[in-house]
Amino acid sequence: MSFNIHIIAGARPNFMKIAPLWHALSSQKWCTPKIIHTGQHYDVSMSGSFFEDLGMPTPQYALNVGSGSHAVQTANIMIAYEEICLKDTPDLVIVVGDVNSTIACALVTKKLGIILAHLEAGLRSGDRTMPEEINRLATDAISDVLWTPSPDANENLHNEGIPDEKVEFVGNIMIDSFEMQRNAIDAIQHDNIKFLPEAYAAVTLHRPSNVDGRENLQIILSSLLEVAKSIPLVFPLHPRTRGNLEKYGFLDQLNHDNIQLIDPMPYRSFMSLVKNSRLVITDSGGIQEETSHLGIPCLTLRDNTERPITISQGTNQLVKVENLIKCVSQCLTHHKSKSVANIKFWDGKTAQRIAENIQQRFDL
Ligand code: UD1
Repeated sequence: MSFNIHIIAGARPNFMKIAPLWHALSSQKWCTPKIIHTGQHYDVSMSGSFFEDLGMPTPQYALNVGSGSHAVQTANIMIAYEEICLKDTPDLVIVVGDVNSTIACALVTKKLGIILAHLEAGLRSGDRTMPEEINRLATDAISDVLWTPSPDANENLHNEGIPDEKVEFVGNIMIDSFEMQRNAIDAIQHDNIKFLPEAYAAVTLHRPSNVDGRENLQIILSSLLEVAKSIPLVFPLHPRTRGNLEKYGFLDQLNHDNIQLIDPMPYRSFMSLVKNSRLVITDSGGIQEETSHLGIPCLTLRDNTERPITISQGTNQLVKVENLIKCVSQCLTHHKSKSVANIKFWDGKTAQRIAENIQQRFDL
């Protein structure tokens, strides 16, 4: 019987991680990969458009759990996924990244005694106030197979006492998605973007630490308004951020000739927006990696990163909001040409390495 593999995805940053894996595994005779969508993200702009852009089929199972507090969301995913697991009896469950869907399905998997693999294992920000850090620590602690994107992740796992034989450095799966879609991304025409390529900064913000508190959000908006005096901004609004801007009555402040607010974009359009930008201001995890791969300067509005290789070998810089204007101006003066990072195994072949690893580990 073919090896039954569940690939779990729930939130936007998961979809570009599972797509290359699904493509690599669905062409193999020795396994049957199935996509399980938890429904943590459900808007077309946060979910459906990614399936379409990344060439993925309708998920075999959709749990449709939706939003909620951390406890409600995690618990609802667990309850719904346990039923699927009991019915479909996977041989291997693959969870990716660090969202609530990741830890919820990881717990269900292990408690049913099923083999669990974590893709993008070992990343650590060292900041346990981040919900994602708790998800990373807990998922890695119970995983049987841990696929890492960079050597720092192997080191973190080793230091936490995870046996080396469980861990495999496979590279960065998101780069596979980008390289699979590179031609389509290059072909995108941005008729609705007001500013010329290389003449704007792309902005994305959604971390609770930046956008949930009124005072913090106001400080960030004031900085962005200052930055907009030196470079126009294109700002796709995450639902969490839009919700808070509306709640605090801040949306009008961003009504500015040099700021374009847009809805969340599908994968290819967004990557094209980033590729054509002069610089990026973000608090996302994945965008720190994508900008390094593309050689676009990235100013990350966070105190720490779980992706230190994007600083040591890429284009990323951690920035405190009070220094944002100075850092943007430094970028505009000094970063004249793109310097593409050449990080080991960020090469578009990670999914292939994972497929080989599964075959070898389970003698398939
Ligand atoms: C989640 C992840 C975060 C990831 C981010 C990417 C966790 C703990 N957090 O945060 O790591 O970086 O996704 O987006 O898993 N909403 C919609 N439509 C949707 C989804 C959400 O309107 O399709 C709104 C809801 O009001 C919801 C809020 O956005 O309450 C936040 O969604 P949620 O999934 O709880 O967290 P994110 O901030 O998206």
